[in-house]
Amino acid sequence: MTQRLLWLSLTEPQQQISSRLLMTNSSQLPLFDVDADLAKIVRERAGTFTDNMKLPIHRWFRYSAGFSAAWVEQLIKELEPQTILDPFAGSGTACIVADQLGVSSYAVEAHPFVYRLAKGKLSWNVDIYDFLAAIIEIKNFAANLKLKLPENIPLLLNKCYTEETLINLLKIRQAYLEIAPTLSKDLQFLIFLAVCAILRSSSYVGTAQWQYILPNKRKVKIYEPFDALDKQVSLMQEDMLYMQSFTRVSRANLIQGDARNLAGIPNNSIDLVISSPPYANNYDYADATRLEMTFWGEVNSWGDLHETVRKFLIRSSSQHVSKEKLSLDTLIDESVIEPIKDELIPVCKELEAVRGTKGGNKAYHTMIAAYFSDMAQVFHALRRVATDDCQICIVVGDSAPYGVYVPVEKWLGKLAIAAGFDNWSFEQIRQRNVKWKNRKHDVPLHEGRLWIESKIMAQSPSHKFGQALGKLLEDIVLDDILKPRLQQFAQTKNYYLDSQKARPARTGKKVTWEDKYGNKHDLDFVIEVDGTDEKLGRPVAFIESAWRRYTKHSKNKAQEIQGAILPIIELHHLSAPFYGVVLAGDFTKPALEQLKNNGFAVIYIPYKDVVSAFKTIDFDVAFDEDTPDDLYTTASKRLASLSSSDKETLRQALMQVSQKEVDIFMTTLRNSLERYITKIVILPLFGVRYEFESIDNALMELNTLNIDSPDGNFERFEVIVDYNNNDTIRATFQDKTVLADFLRKLDS
Ligand SMILES: C[S@@+](CC[C@H](N)C(=O)[O-])C[C@H]1O[C@@H](n2cnc3c(N)ncnc32)[C@H](O)[C@@H]1O
Repeated sequence: MTQRLLWLSLTEPQQQISSRLLMTNSSQLPLFDVDADLAKIVRERAGTFTDNMKLPIHRWFRYSAGFSAAWVEQLIKELEPQTILDPFAGSGTACIVADQLGVSSYAVEAHPFVYRLAKGKLSWNVDIYDFLAAIIEIKNFAANLKLKLPENIPLLLNKCYTEETLINLLKIRQAYLEIAPTLSKDLQFLIFLAVCAILRSSSYVGTAQWQYILPNKRKVKIYEPFDALDKQVSLMQEDMLYMQSFTRVSRANLIQGDARNLAGIPNNSIDLVISSPPYANNYDYADATRLEMTFWGEVNSWGDLHETVRKFLIRSSSQHVSKEKLSLDTLIDESVIEPIKDELIPVCKELEAVRGTKGGNKAYHTMIAAYFSDMAQVFHALRRVATDDCQICIVVGDSAPYGVYVPVEKWLGKLAIAAGFDNWSFEQIRQRNVKWKNRKHDVPLHEGRLWIESKIMAQSPSHKFGQALGKLLEDIVLDDILKPRLQQFAQTKNYYLDSQKARPARTGKKVTWEDKYGNKHDLDFVIEVDGTDEKLGRPVAFIESAWRRYTKHSKNKAQEIQGAILPIIELHHLSAPFYGVVLAGDFTKPALEQLKNNGFAVIYIPYKDVVSAFKTIDFDVAFDEDTPDDLYTTASKRLASLSSSDKETLRQALMQVSQKEVDIFMTTLRNSLERYITKIVILPLFGVRYEFESIDNALMELNTLNIDSPDGNFERFEVIVDYNNNDTIRATFQDKTVLADFLRKLDS
């Protein structure tokens, strides 16, 4: 049996891991009035990029315009696409999630600076040693630079930093610029991102929710730039290690380009689009990265932003259209907006009229027309790259500039149909401007998901058959075969078996547990000590299932399961719980090995065994990619009308093929829960701590170390706990009381 080993570093004992709600809300920050009351915006931002700041890789750079990674994950898992596209990539959230799930992705970002940041995140698979070595080189180079503050420092930098901080930042910048050409492109993106990420934390001025700098606000906590870089690098190192433990392959293709033409993306290649385009809400994406771009010398002042950034973007801000001096008549004559022209003209005319009565005199009338013209082009480009069974899910919000209502989802839906898609629907997530009305108008607004699809997807017979077959297998293998065994085991041992059902101890029917990042995951079974219907107990076993639909090439689900379960196990490391998975369908050998090597107990029913089980009722389910649709339709009908005696025969057949694996699984579970400690090793370490910046230095010093008479104080306790079933817990403590507490918990 594979030894399960958990390595704990409890140097920060009793770290509180707060309980958080799962936020799968996909919205951007609603921001029509960028100068609106800050507190209101803070209240409204729940479920947006803020949630990502707890997640590996996503947290490397805060991009306020981003959407929730948890929502993207949920969608990909649900729809099982082969290749996804985010035409408005932003900080790359969708691609990072796709990489985590082993799914191919494309993304397009037009903002040159934001593109580089996203490239940095998508360079998570760079060799960690190379990354650290390059950072050390840059830090050493920077530390040895003699630098004076140049006279022509841009005003914004002077406003944001003390002289000393700015000198150190400029040293880091110079060192990066000197050394970057010797590094691979991915390393350059990665380190560029690391440096960008410290610019806000080493500044004493505040940042508004939307990344705008607030020069008159002062922050309490400021980091010295070299310290900030160390902190950022160790965060990145941790996340790279985490991600690379699943895979070293990124399947993401990020393009610096324009969603209006999607150049570089092959025709008919995308079967799921997940995106959050700019809202028609006057938010200026160019301004959001002004501090960073000024630091790198890419802009000198606000005035430079149009030429360097804004002119490449969807026209969603009034600054954009004013700069381009657009005329309403020319815009509404464009053929792409013909499908909404009759509704658009009165709205734009009204905006033009209201404009004259407002001090700000903002060109919302042309902004709205230009916005829909741009988005119409996006839908035409999407039609080209989308497969016939593609689904599109985009996050949209309506708007009311100067209080004039613009029915955004309706117009976007119509433009999508005109571009060749078949139907659209809107799923509202929340209302806006209802409880806390903004100062500008009291028009109720909302945000939600606009779903656009072609008919084929909704009706695909192979998809429907795959789903129905998966559901039947789940009912039989989980409910009829595994659950009774678990139930019996739990009863005899006085454990509580939680499964999908209503239970007063938790809300809803799902068995949901939180992981160390605060994300929640739904599981099939969890066994608890001291649990009752009314009270959650201490979880000691987590069991999950997964089915691969063989009607489509599906990706490696093993990776997805690991990504969900292992962070839960880490959160409950003190009890080193059992974790297992029930798989059926088409899983590769390496995928199964990967799960087993990571300590999972696995029940696997291969596709061929599913096919042979169905043969016992004379039902051939051996379909593949080329099976014609009418065969799927006939098979779906038969599946839906299986008699109870057929189901019983199937159950017997599946029980027979899975018997051996289920027995081994139950034995492993029993051994894990009934294990006892065979040995505890406590190793107090004394001595001087030696730290080295390179392997060469470490080797050199090692030769001179005198290990016979070490000097120095107490360093830490190393603890090793061995169990009879080969489980091992290794932990590090700096405090005797915490160690004692740990030992006591082991006993409970
Ligand atoms: C709401 S943000 C997307 C955020 C993203 N979902 C994330 O999680 O980071 C919209 C993005 O669209 C980009 N954008 C604007 N116009 C574009 C265009 N014509 N083509 C591609 N990207 C564009 C903006 O720069 C911005 O980063």
